[in-house]
Amino acid sequence: MAERIVSAKPQAQDGALDTSLRPKSMRDYIGQDKVKGNLEIAIAASKKRSEALDHILLYGPPGLGKTTLANIVAVEMGVNIKITSGPAIERPGDLAAILTNLKKDDILFIDEVHRLNKTVEEVLYPAMEDFALDIIIGKGPGARSLRLKLPHFTFIGATTRYAMISAPLRNRFGAVYRLDFYSVENIKEIVRRSAQILGVEAEEAGLEEIARRARGTPRVANRLLKRVRDYAEVMAEGRITEAVARETMVRLEVDSLGLDEIDHRVLRTIIEKYDGGPVGLDTVAASISEESDTIQDVYEPYLLQLGFLGRTSRGRVATRGAYQHLGLAYPEKAASEQGSLFN
Ligand code: ADE
Repeated sequence: MAERIVSAKPQAQDGALDTSLRPKSMRDYIGQDKVKGNLEIAIAASKKRSEALDHILLYGPPGLGKTTLANIVAVEMGVNIKITSGPAIERPGDLAAILTNLKKDDILFIDEVHRLNKTVEEVLYPAMEDFALDIIIGKGPGARSLRLKLPHFTFIGATTRYAMISAPLRNRFGAVYRLDFYSVENIKEIVRRSAQILGVEAEEAGLEEIARRARGTPRVANRLLKRVRDYAEVMAEGRITEAVARETMVRLEVDSLGLDEIDHRVLRTIIEKYDGGPVGLDTVAASISEESDTIQDVYEPYLLQLGFLGRTSRGRVATRGAYQHLGLAYPEKAASEQGSLFN
């Protein structure tokens, strides 16, 4: 299947440009004011004490800048960062090798930390808590345990699934921050900054048009901007106007709120095949031949944020807003039935 333009997951098409658009300092980082403010204080305090920063867990939907923030923290602290991901660390030995290569105050960033396997995770516990690596030498009754000292480092974990982080891991973070979808105003500023870096001229209304369809997600905003720029260069002498942005969105089949065909299929499936729900996530996924995990991580957060989808104890329901957005009549019967489900 072709890659979705509005997917918040990283894609091959994002390429090297993505790196140049990422802010490199807190000053350039727009939005997420609460997280940013708290991080700035933590950084200033740990610098003052000349100590490594506490371990940090960042969670929230994909594409909101968790990796970018970790990189910025490293820059602001003036330390090295080692970046890896949960699925990339297959065995305890892989993690042991990474840990023993860290220097004092370095940052270890593990993306998708909820996908670390249990045996690897267990190596992390003493490393985070006591800065120690426990190694078992030999087998059977003669086996001995050896404890290696590690330098004081900072662990930053990132996840899209807070609930999948085990309690022992969660409890070892000194700070836990949730990243939220960005406001349209913040996304507009991000698009303005990116357009400047790309050297493309953009009118206010053109920026606004892109921002409103970016699903509150910088990664999506930057991807849309690049496509609008292409269209502007070929059709409008390189200037991003409202009309240029609109026309690009029509061609990309991205609607006024940033929903694409798959979002529409999710909502239509619930509405047309299952009478508006409630219907289980797995059933929806099977109906449209998508994976449940992908729906849950990538599509659902934004539909929930818009209030188009509701989660009940018996499954997902399409709300009045979803019917209205799709131009469908809302059956009043559903309202009274679903009302009781939300409680
Ligand atoms: N690019 C991606 N995320 C950004 C952010 N939060 N601020 C500025 N530029 C960005």
